[in-house]
Amino acid sequence: MKADQYRQMIAGVLGNDLIYFYWKGRVALYALLKAMKVAPGDEVIVPGFTCVVVSNAIKYTGARPVYVDVEKDTMNPAPESFYRAVTGKTKVVLVQNTFGLSTAVDEISAFARAQNIFTIEDCTHGFGGLFKGKPNGSYCDAAFFSTQWNKPFSTGIGGFASVNNHELIPGLEKVNRDLIHPSLKDRMVLAMLLFSRDHILTDSNYWTLRSLYRFLSRNDLVIGSSQGGELTGTEMPPGYFKSISGVQVKKGIRSLGDFAALLERRKENGGIYTRLLADHGKYHVGWKLHPDHCFLKYPALVKNRDDFEEKARKKKIELGDWFCSPVYPVRNNWELWDLDPAKIPNALYLSEHIVNFPAETQYPEKVVKFAEKFMDEIL
Ligand SMILES: Cc1ncc(COP(=O)(O)O)c(C=O)c1O
Repeated sequence: MKADQYRQMIAGVLGNDLIYFYWKGRVALYALLKAMKVAPGDEVIVPGFTCVVVSNAIKYTGARPVYVDVEKDTMNPAPESFYRAVTGKTKVVLVQNTFGLSTAVDEISAFARAQNIFTIEDCTHGFGGLFKGKPNGSYCDAAFFSTQWNKPFSTGIGGFASVNNHELIPGLEKVNRDLIHPSLKDRMVLAMLLFSRDHILTDSNYWTLRSLYRFLSRNDLVIGSSQGGELTGTEMPPGYFKSISGVQVKKGIRSLGDFAALLERRKENGGIYTRLLADHGKYHVGWKLHPDHCFLKYPALVKNRDDFEEKARKKKIELGDWFCSPVYPVRNNWELWDLDPAKIPNALYLSEHIVNFPAETQYPEKVVKFAEKFMDEIL
């Protein structure tokens, strides 16, 4: 019952009610790849500026991720870069809403369809945003979304797939029969984390509790965004293919109630940051991308990230470091994920210099004041 209500609320934003829920966004991606019958010997083309869990989901099927470089202005690959990477083994092209930004999704999906190649849109950053006036997730065979802590709306952890190509449905429903149910412990720990975030977290204990949560989740002591092994190897961790829980559904319904206001704030803050950076002749998100964009985080580039982050920390400004690696957050052993950094020079440059201004903040003026003070350090 509740799941239906949740589905209809999401459908109200996406204009599509073929929604399938999972424990995390990466699980939705894995299910879609399996429904597309991606298998050993196949290639999946992905932007070389992504999250390692995307590469992992591909590796778990036995297929190989093939990375293409991104353009600096959109932080996504140009369509031609995808086209050049296609081989006889290409089974899927995956496009991404990087920080919410997307490029040529219509062209890329039409090109792939003509070659019998599936397309998936990674909308984990893009729920609520648009591309050419249509909701993100509308153009490809399927899309997947994340509702993890820092995503457009949050259920703690969580995710879902939306399907546009109806031919995929029987396969997806068959794959979903293998989903395992979250255990009582999973549900209780998640409920406790959500309670802590809503009722215990305050401005004054935020930094301490954030460090504690990161430490505990890195060591697999609480449910984290990633289990330790996901960042060090390409074996599927136990309990990975998990369905959604009632805790997440209830939280999703509550979170979506506030979503419109949150989206508005993100858009406004995006405009404030662009004006500031553009006025100073710095790297910024082009104005033409603003009307559609949902601004999950605001990407800025700095000369020395460690130094800039340290200064921000002292001022209690939370800067993100997404994607400080082309396969975020993994900083080494990239060959395990089949990544050759020499092939993605732009992504490498961006990953060395990127910081993320908070899009959700109620105090953008604090960020502006800080950025103005250290403007010389911004590229
Ligand atoms: C680009 C991208 N794709 C996929 C994911 C996976 O989402 P989830 O954490 O819900 O599995 C993330 C996670 O942060 C991401 O940044």
